[in-house]
Amino acid sequence: MIVTIDRLGHLGHGIARTEDSGPIYVPGTLPGEVVEGTPEGDRLLDPRIVTPSVNRVKPPCRHARACGGCQLQHASDAFVAGWKQEVVANALAGQGLDATFLPLVTSPARSRRRATLSARRTKSGVLIGFHARASDTIAEIPDCQLLHPGILAAFPGLQALVLAGGSRSTELSLQVTLTRGGPDVVVTGGKPLDGALRMDLARLVEAHGFSRLTWEGETVALRDRPALTMGTATVVPPPGAFLQATAEGEAALLAAVRRALGSQKRVVDLFSGIGTFSLPLAQSMEVHAVEGDAAMTRALDLAARNTPNLHRLGAETRDLFRRPLEPDELSGFTGAVIDPPRAGAEAQTASLARSAVPVIAAVSCNPVTFARDARALVAAGYRLDWVQVVDQFRWSTHIELVARLCRPD
Ligand SMILES: C[S@@+](CC[C@H](N)C(=O)[O-])C[C@H]1O[C@@H](n2cnc3c(N)ncnc32)[C@H](O)[C@@H]1O
Repeated sequence: MIVTIDRLGHLGHGIARTEDSGPIYVPGTLPGEVVEGTPEGDRLLDPRIVTPSVNRVKPPCRHARACGGCQLQHASDAFVAGWKQEVVANALAGQGLDATFLPLVTSPARSRRRATLSARRTKSGVLIGFHARASDTIAEIPDCQLLHPGILAAFPGLQALVLAGGSRSTELSLQVTLTRGGPDVVVTGGKPLDGALRMDLARLVEAHGFSRLTWEGETVALRDRPALTMGTATVVPPPGAFLQATAEGEAALLAAVRRALGSQKRVVDLFSGIGTFSLPLAQSMEVHAVEGDAAMTRALDLAARNTPNLHRLGAETRDLFRRPLEPDELSGFTGAVIDPPRAGAEAQTASLARSAVPVIAAVSCNPVTFARDARALVAAGYRLDWVQVVDQFRWSTHIELVARLCRPD
């Protein structure tokens, strides 16, 4: 069967329209490409590109074919940027909105400072990497172009951890975050802890320079503080706490939030995490940070207390899905930052829509829920000034953005 790829789906698969059998999905292809293969259900097996797209490039990573970590290495940066922006524009159009886009910012190769890897003990040693495409197999990635070299340098230590505490029957998940004290590692799927394993793991943390090791929810070794710099502050996050995936992505999001807020003097940071935005913003304005996870709020609060010359920074633990800040609680703020999880912030947005907060910097990792929430704000009189896509998950289909909404004077 020969098909022509019409568009990319949200998982990055090429989608071809056929007259008789509905859409056909072909991973690794781009719009406009003519592809030949064997149809099976809604897939095209063993696809061969007959006519390549002008946007097709040689994948920069030698593992791209085997590894499922990246979905769009075969597409040029310009194509991916245009596609991501189009996904956001389409989501907004679906809600009757259009937007001016500021230039997209992409994180460089080899900049992922936080990644969750899969690992397994094998007969001959240990396998660590990302899953192969649509498969249980783990692809090894010694020359990965996505991960920060600091994470790749941690692989021998990670292998030693898996050898000590992994079984051949269970896959382990290793979340690794680069911190000033060394890699901070959170392991799940390992053997249950006993005295001997605790001692082994603590010895390996010392030997390989990890900052902290958390095993099945228990911190078993703390060699050095897993500290992160946010503005002028130092934050020690709780194990596994949310962190923007690249330092460059974080800087681009913060720059866009600052641009959106301008010279506001008193802002509320909703879904504040460990203070990614609150701490730098508090260098020039008063901030009230609200976050659902108490350990993250404590980390933010401690960082604020230990940082000189910040404006007042209050931190509150609160479930913003169940108990959003009400309009009267929002009344003293001249700006808001809102950065919810993928589900968006329906309840908090409804309350913002009834408030008089003049400016909102909306950060989102899901264009669909962002567009839904933006529509509610626009319906309540806010104006959508601009949107900027920040691509910190390069070569993936993941999309992040910042938008400015304001109440016209
Ligand atoms: C996308 S992260 C953003 C965190 C922070 N703004 C940053 O950039 O690091 C979303 C945050 O929302 C928090 N969260 C999730 N559900 C929540 C809820 N129902 N109420 C309050 N916070 C919640 C998470 O713990 C997480 O810190």
